[in-house]
Amino acid sequence: MSFPEGFLWGGATAANQLEGAWDEDGKGVSISDISTGGSAGKSKRITPVLEDGTYYPSHVAIDHYHRYKEDIRLFAEMGFKVYRFSVNWTRIFPTGLEKEPNEKGLRFYEGVVDECLKYGIEPLITICHYEIPFELVKRYNGFAGRETIDCFIRYCRALFERFKGKVKYWLTFNELNNGTNPVGGFLALGVLNELEKPTVFQEPKDVPEIRFQALHHAFVASAMAVRLAHEIDPDYRVGCMQIFCTSYPLTPKPEDTMANIEFYHRMNWFCADVQCRGYYPSYMKRYFRENKINVKMEPEDERVLQEGPVDFYTCSYYMSFCQTAGEAESALGNMIQGAKNPYLKASDWGWQIDPVGLRVALNQIYDRYQLPIMVVENGLGAYDKKEADGSINDDYRIDYLRQHIKQMEEAVDDGVDLIGYTTWGCIDLVSASTGEYAKRYGFIYVNRFDDGTGDFSREKKKSFDWYKRVIASNGKELD
Ligand code: BG6
Repeated sequence: MSFPEGFLWGGATAANQLEGAWDEDGKGVSISDISTGGSAGKSKRITPVLEDGTYYPSHVAIDHYHRYKEDIRLFAEMGFKVYRFSVNWTRIFPTGLEKEPNEKGLRFYEGVVDECLKYGIEPLITICHYEIPFELVKRYNGFAGRETIDCFIRYCRALFERFKGKVKYWLTFNELNNGTNPVGGFLALGVLNELEKPTVFQEPKDVPEIRFQALHHAFVASAMAVRLAHEIDPDYRVGCMQIFCTSYPLTPKPEDTMANIEFYHRMNWFCADVQCRGYYPSYMKRYFRENKINVKMEPEDERVLQEGPVDFYTCSYYMSFCQTAGEAESALGNMIQGAKNPYLKASDWGWQIDPVGLRVALNQIYDRYQLPIMVVENGLGAYDKKEADGSINDDYRIDYLRQHIKQMEEAVDDGVDLIGYTTWGCIDLVSASTGEYAKRYGFIYVNRFDDGTGDFSREKKKSFDWYKRVIASNGKELD
């Protein structure tokens, strides 16, 4: 039992959560740049007009824009085989509407890609990771407007043409299925139904029909991008990316099992079914009918979806839930909530820790699609403490990752075609859900804090050397 030869070990980040330099070199304003800081107890806000004196973490993040060479050198020291990062759409097309790409933006990512290749690290690029240009939100309500499809394809073309021969792996949208949730509509699809005043991130003005319309346009855009990528370079491999949330019936009551199936349909399968199989699953007809959702489709959409299934499947995996048809104590999770599982412990942010749930997930996904799989996000957000001697002993993170890697190994033995693993936030960065630095995921500690202090210097945590050993032994040395 072992990981296959050439297994892609590495780490993952997203532009808005680490780059900073939010208005440098011609960059425009993205949806993340109008999101304020927050914390576990205080939701961040989306402010259509930037407020004087308000703190916007993406504006500086961890200053990776000016330090990417140092960061990639550290990734290389750990032995990364792959580095997943996102391109910030607004560096390439500042408003999303320009006809020609911004050369300075392309040059920045060329620097990142070349730096990876210098160390033999395979770049894995997420094209859209919660970074839609804000101008497209104002004009078209993000992907709710069909016009945004053309803007996205223009952006994809610029990337595919520029990085031909250098980059092999692409993901069209980060966690597209987050768009099935009210909170995810803004992040994943750029849908913001309230422009006149700030929105509390956790309580958006939600119109399901608009959200699912936007999701449909994103499906079409994703399928068109897959096709375009293959036309430009037949060696390109394009994947989908979902939040995967393993879930169990809370009790053996048949009604709880049915509630769990419905959760799987909407959350785990709907978007992946469309992106992997190229057509809408039949169970969504009922969901749309019962929720009075009418999605408008153009006559060519069916063909476009059929012609653009993805080459591989990827997901984030952090935690699991239970489902019940009745009442139950609820547990927090990645953007969504579910019923609490009495057998699991939770992280400092209340996310239930379930390594076996990852093996369950990988089996379920592979049984369904028979496509190569990468786990492109997994990790533990925790409060890290610096000891008096300056060391950061994050044994809890090592333990979390070790347990999950063991379960991935089991899944490989089950026959799952798992080709890679990138831990989330391989370097500390800003949290997507809470907008804070305090929730740290990295092997590399960044001296930057929520009160705005800190010089951005980097330090290795205990997990740094541990992960280096894991990679060097291809997953055999986990202790
Ligand atoms: C995923 C996102 O949902 O989870 C990342 O793709 C995010 O952008 C990660 O950072 C962890 O979530 P959080 O809220 O702890 O940052």
